[in-house]
Amino acid sequence: MSELPSDITQLLPVRSVGVPDALTDAELLTLYSTADPSLTLVRANFIASVDGSATAAGLSGRLGAPADKRVFDLLRQLADVVVVGAGTVRGEGYGAMLLGDAAAAWRVARHRPAHPVFAVVSASLSLDPASDVFTKAPVRPLVLTSSSADPARRQALEAVADVVSCGEQRVEPLRLVAELRRRGLTQIHCEGGPSLLGDLIAADVLDELCLTVSPTLEGGAGPRITRAPAGPPLDLRALTLDHLLLSGSMLLSKYSRAR
Ligand SMILES: NC(=O)c1ccc[n+]([C@@H]2O[C@H](COP(=O)([O-])OP(=O)(O)OC[C@H]3O[C@@H](n4cnc5c(N)ncnc54)[C@H](OP(=O)(O)O)[C@@H]3O)[C@@H](O)[C@H]2O)c1
Repeated sequence: MSELPSDITQLLPVRSVGVPDALTDAELLTLYSTADPSLTLVRANFIASVDGSATAAGLSGRLGAPADKRVFDLLRQLADVVVVGAGTVRGEGYGAMLLGDAAAAWRVARHRPAHPVFAVVSASLSLDPASDVFTKAPVRPLVLTSSSADPARRQALEAVADVVSCGEQRVEPLRLVAELRRRGLTQIHCEGGPSLLGDLIAADVLDELCLTVSPTLEGGAGPRITRAPAGPPLDLRALTLDHLLLSGSMLLSKYSRAR
């Protein structure tokens, strides 16, 4: 990494969500929008406790608060496709990728489909075709898998989703991005989890990380927001801070990959 300047400035007072000069949804959408949506953007949104845990009692939900949920929903509103690892879909009990009426209307007014596509990443295809993820989906979901996936499970899921191979043993991030782009899905938003994020970072396809720091200490053995794939340690990926928002003591940051 290049030599860093040693200047230090104080960020406070920062604009806060939830006080009289709080950011509106329109302002938040502007902050998180990209200048040119035709260019591919791979963004991830995560939350961690101050001591670096991605979960509390096994789930990310207990780290969250209304401000974080608000940004979580607005990021979905901006996405062409929401990509989630199967571990998170199973663990967090995901349902269909269905936006609220106002968010859907906002998108339609901008000549975009009312809802983003839901793309689940799985090697095992251990996903229930009868779950709400598929049966209540407003748009036919995608299942991104490998060519070695179980053929019977693949066939069962093909009844309810487009099942696409993006690798031989695992989903390769470069192929995932190429496949989504081929489908015109350039605003790629990943909601986790740590294994998938680790793969995206390793392949260096991640352009933005939105990280909420929950003002809590988990104190236990919770995982980080990334799990390293097998292989040698990576070179550090340098990031640039785009913005830092505050809600109470919760920090909501957006970093871009400095290339
Ligand atoms: N703090 C946060 O913001 C946050 C966000 C999301 C999740 N989480 C937490 O993270 C935990 C889950 O962690 P996790 O690492 O298991 O999550 P994950 O990355 O969502 O799930 C891992 C599973 O996803 C599939 N997968 C991921 N990358 C793949 C690839 N490159 N190719 C093929 N399949 C791939 C595999 O599914 P198969 O097993 O089906 O092959 C793999 O076992 C949960 O406790 C959840 O609450 C936290």
